[in-house]
Amino acid sequence: MRTEAMRTATLTPMLIAKEGDVPVDLRNRDLRHHDPDHHDPDHHDPDHHDLRHHGDREVGPGLVDLTVNVRRPAPPVWLRDVLIEALDGVAAYPDTGAATTAVAHRHGRTREEVLVTAGGAEAFTLVARALCPGTDVGRAVVVHPQFTEPEVALAVAGHRVDRLLLGPQDGYALDPARVPQDADLVVVGNPTNPTSVLHPLATLRRLVRPGRVLVVDEAFMDTVPGEPESLAALRLPGVIVLRSLTKTWGLAGVRAGYLLAEPALVRRLAEVQPPWSVSSLALAATVACCSPSAVAEADRAAVRSVGDREHLVRRLQGVAPVAAPPAAPFVLLHVPQGAAVREGLRERGFAVRRGDTFPGLGPNWLRVAVRDRGVTDSFVDALTGVLRRGMT
Ligand SMILES: Cc1ncc(COP(=O)(O)O)c(C=O)c1O
Repeated sequence: MRTEAMRTATLTPMLIAKEGDVPVDLRNRDLRHHDPDHHDPDHHDPDHHDLRHHGDREVGPGLVDLTVNVRRPAPPVWLRDVLIEALDGVAAYPDTGAATTAVAHRHGRTREEVLVTAGGAEAFTLVARALCPGTDVGRAVVVHPQFTEPEVALAVAGHRVDRLLLGPQDGYALDPARVPQDADLVVVGNPTNPTSVLHPLATLRRLVRPGRVLVVDEAFMDTVPGEPESLAALRLPGVIVLRSLTKTWGLAGVRAGYLLAEPALVRRLAEVQPPWSVSSLALAATVACCSPSAVAEADRAAVRSVGDREHLVRRLQGVAPVAAPPAAPFVLLHVPQGAAVREGLRERGFAVRRGDTFPGLGPNWLRVAVRDRGVTDSFVDALTGVLRRGMT
């Protein structure tokens, strides 16, 4: 039984064609799921979500970037040195051995439970390709709003995707009972982009069941001090935890990440991974970023970011409501006339992430990255000015 908030998205691979830089069908004309009973101006017609839109398309020359969630403009010097040193080895084909061991140590897992990937994003494609639509997966459910690439990867691989939409009325909380019993592939982000909500570990555990694969995207988990809600160290059957090293370490261009799962699943995912998919530079960075000192450095940065986020949330009081208690280095705001506000902010030098490309959100939602207090203060001043101008 499909509930009101469940939406179906289907897409056959043969429909994919290129038009400019956006695959035609991924602009959602063919992700059709109308629900005549459900009308809310803040929830866009899902047919208009451009699932392939990401924050990097919104940055521009001279703009302060509050749209991309990479924490730093460059890797720290010690990591840069690691990358430079790795250049000496790039004539050889990459060897994943040391990186696999480093990830296993970092999370207390065995090497057989680790697959290093070209950024966290590669994991979505591996899952979508390794599990066959119809046979392995009868019903894939993606919990939205969330990062859109998992849905894209599934749809491109021919999976039928149902959307479970969480809402602001209950702070985007996930009630496991709302996930259909027969969903045999479930994808959830934790903490979630763009809502910044951190689901409790106990909630996620309730989604684990025999015959189901649960993909937990923990791309931003290393920004949560102590990572209390992480599933990474737990051995749960059917659970795939995906991690990214690109945000915290300023490595988006290097493509470093990994996944953790039971050995049989790891083997299946590895079978569909292109050979030498993870570059020598990414592997060297993975080893370095999994060292105890790097993990401790990331945790200190996470603590600083919490302070910066609290400052942002305090400054936003009385200016624009934050959607839910945030746990990641970005917050989701609700503003009137969002498109005009976004434009006004650009005129004042700030790029923020549009919300309307996320299923479940509309144009009046904006995602704003947490930066240092100086940047936050000027941003909130600019936002206040734009909102005042809109009201006069
Ligand atoms: C929630 C989430 N998951 C995964 C990714 C992919 O990260 P990467 O492939 O750079 O590791 C992103 C990138 O923006 C993201 O926001």
